[in-house]
Amino acid sequence: MARKIMGVVGARPNFMKMAPIWRVLAGKAAYSRVLVHTGQHYDDNMSRIFFDDLRLPKPDVYLGVGSGSHGAQTGTIMIEFEKALLSERADLVMVVGDVNSTMACSLVAVKMGVPVAHVEAGLRSFDRTMPEEINRMVTDIVADLLFTTCAEAGENLIREHVDARKIHFVGNVMIDSLYYYSPLADASPVLDTLALEKGGYGLVTLHRPSNVDEFGTFKKILDALLVLGERCPLVFPVHPRTRKMLATWGTVPPPDRIRMLDPVGYLDFLKLMKHARIVLTDSGGIQEETTVLGIPCLTIRENTERPITITVGTNVLTGSDTGTIVDEGLKALAGGAGRRGIPELWDGRASERIAGVIDAYFS
Ligand code: UD1
Ligand code: UDP
Repeated sequence: MARKIMGVVGARPNFMKMAPIWRVLAGKAAYSRVLVHTGQHYDDNMSRIFFDDLRLPKPDVYLGVGSGSHGAQTGTIMIEFEKALLSERADLVMVVGDVNSTMACSLVAVKMGVPVAHVEAGLRSFDRTMPEEINRMVTDIVADLLFTTCAEAGENLIREHVDARKIHFVGNVMIDSLYYYSPLADASPVLDTLALEKGGYGLVTLHRPSNVDEFGTFKKILDALLVLGERCPLVFPVHPRTRKMLATWGTVPPPDRIRMLDPVGYLDFLKLMKHARIVLTDSGGIQEETTVLGIPCLTIRENTERPITITVGTNVLTGSDTGTIVDEGLKALAGGAGRRGIPELWDGRASERIAGVIDAYFS
């Protein structure tokens, strides 16, 4: 009888991580699949567009939890996911990344005696003020299969006394998607639509609460962007958290220096990254994607759970200090920090390795 795998997605960065795994599992008769969308992200341009772009099947179960405080959102996901798991009786729950949906569904599964597979396990910023760090630690401690993207992640897990037999270094599913969808991204008309020249603009994303929830910090970052935007116009697809805060403050930067857009779909964003002169971000996934694309990336954070993007890739940490962001930005615009290496096993085949480990787990 086919084993039932329940895959969980909820927020924007989950979709491109689950898509390649879902595709590989679809080709295996040994498994039936149930895709659960918690509804943590729900705007069309934070959710539906990714199902279209990634050709992900419509979710089998939609929990519709929406936004809320950490306690309310995590609690609602747990209540709703428990019902779904009770009715579906899965053999394995697969979670990706580090969002509230990841942790909430892992906790429900382990308490119901259903094994948990965590894709992107072991990343640590060692900064417990980040909600994601708590989500990562809790998920990893209850998971039965821990799939890592780099050697350091495995070392972090061993240090936390995770049984080495549970840890599988498979590579990076986000990069599976990057390679797989690259030809489709190349066909995106986004540069023409926005009248952008290849190599003639910078790309910005910001959504970490530590950067956008408090005006003082955001202002320091904005000041730096305004300086850099004079040298190289910036395109800024604005995350809904950030949009909400900007509306509260009434902040509207000059559009010739910083052009604000609504969030864009995966294919358009991949094309925008590929042809950017520089990327400025506080995203987790974008640090990895720019590393593989060889595009200079300034990460506007004090730390990263993805240090391999600095040691091997094109990433530089700037924090939120105006002067540091400007200095590093000018260096990058002058041609620094271009293509370096690609981390081990970031080769587009992580999902196949994950499926192989799951085969062995069930046999
Ligand atoms: C979440 C993740 C974060 C991830 C990010 C990716 C947690 C704790 N945080 O942060 O790790 O990097 O997603 O994008 O899980 N909102 C909308 N429409 C939506 C979704 C959100 O308007 O479709 C607004 C709401 O006002 C909401 C706010 O954005 O309160 C924040 O959403 P939430 O999912 O709580 O956290 P993110 O900041 O999106
Ligand atoms: N992304 C996108 N559209 C955007 C911004 C980002 O498709 O407007 C993609 C990006 O290429 C990456 C993922 O979303 O694949 C990263 O998600 P996000 O930055 O929201 O979350 P994080 O990685 O920080 O958790």
